[in-house]
Amino acid sequence: MTKDTFYVTTPIYYPNDKLHIGHTYTTTAADTVVKFKELQGYETELITGSDEHGQKLQKTAEEHGMEPLGYIDGIVKTFKELWSTLEVDYTEFVRTTSQEHKKDVQHIFKKIYDKGDIYKDKYEGYYCTPCETYWAERELDEEGNCPDCNRPVEWVEEESYFFKMSEYEEQLLEFLDDNPDFIQPAKRRNEMINFIEEGLEDLCVSRTSFDWGIPVPIDGDHVIYVWFDALISYLTGIGFRRDEDKFGSYWPADVHIVGKDILRFHTIIWPAILMAADMELPKQVFGHGFLTVEGGKMSKSKGNVVDPTKLVNDFGVDAVRYYLMREVAFGTDGSYSTESFIRRINSDLANDLGNLLNRTVAMVEQYFDGVIPEPRSETEYDADLKKTSQQELAAMADDMENLQFSTALEHLWTVIRRTNKYIDQTTPWILAKDEDKQDKLGTVLYNLLEALRITAIALKPFLPEAPAKIWQQIGIKADLDQQRWSEVEEWGLLEAGLEVNPGDPIFPRIDAEEYFAKQAEAEDDEKEETEEMVEEDKITFDDFTKLDLRVAEVLEAERIEGSDKLLKLQVALGEERRQLVAGIAKHYEADELIGKKVLMVANLEPATIFGTESNGMVLAASDDEGELTLTTVDQDIASGSQVE
Ligand code: MSP
Repeated sequence: MTKDTFYVTTPIYYPNDKLHIGHTYTTTAADTVVKFKELQGYETELITGSDEHGQKLQKTAEEHGMEPLGYIDGIVKTFKELWSTLEVDYTEFVRTTSQEHKKDVQHIFKKIYDKGDIYKDKYEGYYCTPCETYWAERELDEEGNCPDCNRPVEWVEEESYFFKMSEYEEQLLEFLDDNPDFIQPAKRRNEMINFIEEGLEDLCVSRTSFDWGIPVPIDGDHVIYVWFDALISYLTGIGFRRDEDKFGSYWPADVHIVGKDILRFHTIIWPAILMAADMELPKQVFGHGFLTVEGGKMSKSKGNVVDPTKLVNDFGVDAVRYYLMREVAFGTDGSYSTESFIRRINSDLANDLGNLLNRTVAMVEQYFDGVIPEPRSETEYDADLKKTSQQELAAMADDMENLQFSTALEHLWTVIRRTNKYIDQTTPWILAKDEDKQDKLGTVLYNLLEALRITAIALKPFLPEAPAKIWQQIGIKADLDQQRWSEVEEWGLLEAGLEVNPGDPIFPRIDAEEYFAKQAEAEDDEKEETEEMVEEDKITFDDFTKLDLRVAEVLEAERIEGSDKLLKLQVALGEERRQLVAGIAKHYEADELIGKKVLMVANLEPATIFGTESNGMVLAASDDEGELTLTTVDQDIASGSQVE
């Protein structure tokens, strides 16, 4: 018997920066779908990971004076911490530098090469390193920059292997025609079809001007283009070529969830690669919109990057995940602001949901000594509450099928608001005063708790913490994790006779004014601290004497291959010889350094930079314009002399 499985992927992230709230949008959405499918009884897989090769990474690591892998390891750790903070339960974290992945990529490359769909030629054209994308001249923006990120592109001329993507044009169009739901949302589908119809060019799938990548299996001088490499992580993550059973039950993926910026890679390049490799295509690719801040792109230079970890620390993981899935329709762009965040949390979570729970549990405590009553005698409002709940929850499930998280939550909130209205309609505090209305009162409280039971289960894919708190306060003994969607669909499953456990409000109201005042205060404190630190940033004479500063004579100098910044120097310190790596290649030719006497720190811990051992550091002065000059001595003096 085949299992009901569901496989969702989120992109694998470039490990060259801290992830901001926009990045976490994709992964939170993917995790929510997977948890919803689990609730419906599916066996699921969710993969994410890190996209660790390419020119951009090699450069960034170099700028940090580190080996690529050492640099990446640190960042991967922060990624994993972030997913754990957001309670994202991925099943596999694929690192593209892993041995399995490298072999998978080489396998697919070789398969397509053997088939005759990869050939060697010369690439001449533009390349955007930050986006790792090739561009034709006609595609550049008005200033001749990358049309995606508007940063300058590089002119690249190099020998490359090409994938015959142009030959898949017709097959792709046919596929899109036969599978109208493949690209979501629909408006993006038309964009992609237009792109293909304009004519596909063969894709350059290898690079030779740097070496941080997976070697081309048939030619060690080339590394595989980073996107060809990265997309295959969707196969590696579910045991491609290693675990046939698993792979067979999860591939083709049910949905790749990605941002709109990388839709072309997923809906044109990826399907063409899979077609060439004679593999099945994923069932769907969903390209969601971008989260902006006050309508603008988040960027470090604008200083408007929203840190998801800070948000979770300030407001809790439930609030952050709820906001992300509720505020913006999945598929369209949306703007983040802390004001709208607080407003949303206060109105939906604190008022509508939190108060409902509080009032209900308090009334059970007050009128029935905390014991859940039997529903004995109907009120005129019961049927409508039940009907609304069942209709809205069915609509919620439909929306989840289409990844419409926001409207799915809206349906659930219609149930919550209807339940609040039910309290106002049935006025339990008035029923409580009438001896003859105790059965009715019991029914009202039972129904309120029942609506909360259903809400807790339906909310589980969205909120990692609150459902268990609701469950605990209602006093249900059954394991919440064992509940399935069928238990949401059926009204009346709550067991009477159990005891409620009144607790603290699950979503205390956020005082926006107080929050912003505290933030401003914290910012002021931080500023003061930095100012104090700057003042205290003096070292003692003892500290200074720990430095072994010496005059060094440069004996040999050469460029380090693959780096445009680094030079390898051999220097003399008197009789002693040392090898150093210096980041001065943009300012000095190797030859002009020979014979120069420069100052260096001689007792720095040895380091390996770009595969080259460095024992010490030469000193140079640089200004804000990026000009740099080496520090030398005023008059000739023997190498090895101490600088005091
Ligand atoms: N490494 C590639 C993906 C390879 S998948 C085989 C990549 N990485 S990324 O780190 O740049 O982006 C990861 C995801 O974050 C993408 O889906 C991207 O669209 C998404 N987002 C980045 N900024 C975003 C917003 N401001 N808003 C919403 N999503 C955003 O691309």
